Amino acid sequence: MKGSIVDAIKDLITEFFGREEWLKVLENANIDRNTHFGIKQDIPDEVVLSIIDSISKTLKLSQLEVIDAFGEYWASVYTPKVYKPYYRGIRSAKELITRLDEIHQKVIHDIPNAKPPRFEYKWENENTLIMKYKSFRNLILIFIAVLKGLAKHYKTPLEIEQISENEVRIIFPPE
Ligand code: HEM
Repeated sequence: MKGSIVDAIKDLITEFFGREEWLKVLENANIDRNTHFGIKQDIPDEVVLSIIDSISKTLKLSQLEVIDAFGEYWASVYTPKVYKPYYRGIRSAKELITRLDEIHQKVIHDIPNAKPPRFEYKWENENTLIMKYKSFRNLILIFIAVLKGLAKHYKTPLEIEQISENEVRIIFPPE
């Protein structure tokens, strides 16, 4: 996965728990404490997952708490700052979610070797969307966590329910 994911995790942990705790997280994951994670660098998926695992053990949080914290940080702090141009002209959670596949397709163009997820959309009605998450990584919990983060970022109550291994139902508030 791209180094930006680890860079976001590092910023999150450093901001909320301090640099020493971040270094402990690396140490407990058997990663050299001086490792630099460049934003465009490719980091093996196992390393990213071992960091998430180590955060949960080091800071005594459940895996889901770590993933949810990451989702919120990625959607409301990190991507609006680091990937600002992708947000241009987008004014709501609904608009961003509707354009999520297009945004990740653009990522493939802009960032060499990125392999982001794809999304399929099926509208049940004006405010109810079934979204299929497609990725060889099978990280649907991260997908859901980022959706929850978007809801907070745009201050929009979204009802999000996982309805199968790779699908969620999202109910947007009436406009
Ligand atoms: C405009 C903002 C966003 C940008 C620029 C962006 C960009 C990226 C990038 C660069 C990656 C890493 C791809 C790789 O390492 O191969 C990624 C992964 C991912 N993105 Fe986004 N993303 C954005 C918003 C979102 C949102 C809002 C969601 C979900 C609601 C999301 C879901 C995911 C997931 C689940 C992954 C993990 C990789 C996988 O599942 O295969 N992203 N994204």
